[in-house]
Amino acid sequence: MKKRETNHAAVRVGILGCGTIGAGVARHLLAQRHALAHHLGCPLELARVADIDLAGARREGLPAALLTTCADEVLRDPRIDIVVELIGGTTAAKHCVMDAMRRGKHVVTANKALLAKDGLRLHTLAQAHGVDLFYEASVGGGIPIIKALREGFVANRIDSVFGIVNGTCNYILTRMTAAGLEFGQALKEAMAQGYAEADPTLDIEGHDARHKIGILASIAFGQWIPQPRIYVQGITGVTALDIQCANELGYVIKFLAIAKAENGGLHARVHPTLLPAHSMLANVNGVFNAIEVNGAPIGTTLFYGRGAGRDATSSAVIADIIDVARNVGLRSHKRLPAFAFAARPRPLKPMAEVCTKYYLRCTTVDRPGVIAAISRELGSRNIGLTSVLLHETARGARSTILFMTHRARECDMQAALAAINRLPVVKAKTVMIRVEPSDE
Ligand code: HSE
Repeated sequence: MKKRETNHAAVRVGILGCGTIGAGVARHLLAQRHALAHHLGCPLELARVADIDLAGARREGLPAALLTTCADEVLRDPRIDIVVELIGGTTAAKHCVMDAMRRGKHVVTANKALLAKDGLRLHTLAQAHGVDLFYEASVGGGIPIIKALREGFVANRIDSVFGIVNGTCNYILTRMTAAGLEFGQALKEAMAQGYAEADPTLDIEGHDARHKIGILASIAFGQWIPQPRIYVQGITGVTALDIQCANELGYVIKFLAIAKAENGGLHARVHPTLLPAHSMLANVNGVFNAIEVNGAPIGTTLFYGRGAGRDATSSAVIADIIDVARNVGLRSHKRLPAFAFAARPRPLKPMAEVCTKYYLRCTTVDRPGVIAAISRELGSRNIGLTSVLLHETARGARSTILFMTHRARECDMQAALAAINRLPVVKAKTVMIRVEPSDE
């Protein structure tokens, strides 16, 4: 058998942040060092682990000689080639990542908020200093979606990337659908199960998903998408009634993050979405994530797996460490750049210009001509209907009328909604949820 080409100099790793993920990564690097060295062709040495609180690291049994409370002992150690940032947050983490790169160290991070906010600046700095910046664990936990976009699909023109990227929200919607729970009950259950954070705001208001689709869209389209340009609507307004109504129409409500290239422009958005009940994404349940990528010549691909948790996230962090270590060991940095800028950036479309299909639930008085009055407001703004469903109503009670529309512009729908809600026959604010797929 031909002997594997080896480079005997060790590649050294320093970890900043020894919480659940940091400790998982450290333990794996120590336990698997022989297998990793064999795989790489050179030793991969965990040189230092820093955290301001080392209690967790000690509980995990990490060797005391590796531990320090001082991040600078990692950043300033000239022997360390790769800094793994697992501190979280965007202040100290940003400082450490930038300092590491300025000192010529490669960086691996799981920090989606940092990348989403400062990805362009960090990539520019990485290029200026000739170092790698990898962040597979920032989106989709253990699903290798970033590597797929960066490398596997390098031959493709990407048309869209979208999916379920927040496990907490998917768990909540799954429980609302399966057990008829209201949002608050399902959230409590998610917290009791340990899926939702003590402060679940980032998840349920959609900011976590916005970070993730920002990163995926930026890589897919080769231009860094500023977070404020991504439309976001969380799941706090989704009700058991709408889930049930969607179900009657043959749909499931999922929380989607969507980025599309259309008509020479790009847009990205995060919101609750009706999906046909038979579609693959509609059947992704619990805390699982799934991301669909459409491109040419590849067509449609779907990635599915655990989007969070120690094991899935550690798997992605270690994959990045090995990728960078190969570059270091074989001196093949920039084999494929972590981020390839598009030759010609495309304009970002505002949400008002985005076209989708829509579900409307109107609450009205029970009187002849109500459906006609609502349809008139839609029709006069060029919004056509694909179906109307009127729930059977007891005489004198409120009517619930469901409308499904053809593809229409968001600004036209918003104008129609305002007019519908002003109609004297309409007795509660009309619920609107966007429907996908909306291409046809
Ligand atoms: N809070 C995230 C989720 C996990 O629920 O998907 C970390 O990205």
